[in-house]
Amino acid sequence: MKKEKTTRSRGGFGSKIGFVLAAAGSAVGLGNIWRFPYLAAKYGGGIFLLVYIIFAVTFGFALMLTEIAIGRRTGKSVIGAYRSADKRFAPLGWLAAAIPALILPYYCVIGGWVLKYMTAFFTGNGAHMAENTTDSAGNEISRFAEFISGFGQPAVFFLIYVLIGSAAVVLGVEKGIEKVSKILMPVLLILIIGIGGYTLTLKGAGEGLKYYLLPNFSGFTAGMFLKTIAAAVGQLFYSMSIAMGIMVTYGSYMRKEDSIEGSVRQIEIFDTAVAFLAGLIIVPSVFIFSGGDKDSIKVGPGLMFDTLPKVFDSMPGGQFIGAAFFVLVALAALTSSISLMETVTAVVIEKFGLSRAKSCGVVIVFTIIIGMLSVLGYSKWSDFTIFDMQILDFFDFATNNLMMPVLAFMTCIMIGYAVKTKYVEEEVMYGEKQFRSKKLYEVMIKYICPVCMIMILITPFVTKI
Ligand code: PFF
Repeated sequence: MKKEKTTRSRGGFGSKIGFVLAAAGSAVGLGNIWRFPYLAAKYGGGIFLLVYIIFAVTFGFALMLTEIAIGRRTGKSVIGAYRSADKRFAPLGWLAAAIPALILPYYCVIGGWVLKYMTAFFTGNGAHMAENTTDSAGNEISRFAEFISGFGQPAVFFLIYVLIGSAAVVLGVEKGIEKVSKILMPVLLILIIGIGGYTLTLKGAGEGLKYYLLPNFSGFTAGMFLKTIAAAVGQLFYSMSIAMGIMVTYGSYMRKEDSIEGSVRQIEIFDTAVAFLAGLIIVPSVFIFSGGDKDSIKVGPGLMFDTLPKVFDSMPGGQFIGAAFFVLVALAALTSSISLMETVTAVVIEKFGLSRAKSCGVVIVFTIIIGMLSVLGYSKWSDFTIFDMQILDFFDFATNNLMMPVLAFMTCIMIGYAVKTKYVEEEVMYGEKQFRSKKLYEVMIKYICPVCMIMILITPFVTKI
């Protein structure tokens, strides 16, 4: 098809690099920093890296490409997009809107925790956050446990974080999201390379590096290999912001004259590079700190808010490195929450016909109300659990382990068997000479991706990753 310039009434990205950096900003988030290094360390170092990269360029590529193409072809928010693609699949649009609406509030609560730690390291209180303390019953607890159980501070930092994130969304796609991403993403890259370079100069880093990079086959059974594959697929899904409606929304703002295939490759490289570099910071430094104890590399909040402050505290120049690190995490989280908020805001604009500012206001109020439940779940309501999970963990589980795999599975069925892959391929080919990975794409969407989705759905019930 011939290339032609487009004019979009809803606004959109003004450049290809703007789109790529915004989508990469969405993909690069807490998942890259607190999940990837842990999984790599746990599943045989280099083996995990290799499996992850193979899945990124096949499975991840196909899913991300599909979402962006659906978005650009329909030019609508998720609800309109799925309906336009195939009326019978319209309920998927609602699911794709519900997922970011449920993730955004708790993601912002965690963003608030990051702000707190960033502030602490900037004001010279990083060492304080690294100490342990005692609770009212005299038990030894981490400062992090003390902080989140306190309600007031987490609530205030959460509110500040929501307001900062929403500024970019209120300003719109080109003037807000694109501008912010073009500034923040290069800063993030410089920070991660700088901190990574520094940690590698520390004494003993070589051993940690070997552990992270070299394939470790000792005790690596067939069962372990299957678990590694499940972990890699799960991580990829999480890391690339797939099945959250985000890529459909961002795709709907993409210019017709830019290549979808090329953009997806660039987003993937950015996301994988940041995850890899985060591992270069975290694995060797925790390794040195713990005297080579592999089990001290944890996953999730425990790593970021408990172990790492202690690691920084023990490093020469740790106060400074800690401050830089938490700025890095704040930037990564911020651009991800902006993409979640934009996806929900686009739905409100389209469905209720409100202005962008008003729609964003509605989303902010909703986020604050639902997010407060997560804040309360760790403090005043800590005895309240849902299926044995705190409120925040429940939202995380319901979205990541149930709703997202279902949405991705059904999207594959819709594209592979209902509207057929031509629907995506025509959009990818728009103005392009060829779709290089077309064959690979078809096999992935019709067969491999649906199987992988079923695997993700059953894994949490069979084993704990
Ligand atoms: N892809 C981003 C990350 O890796 O953190 C954003 C994200 C992932 C947000 C998963 C929310 C989520 F549940």
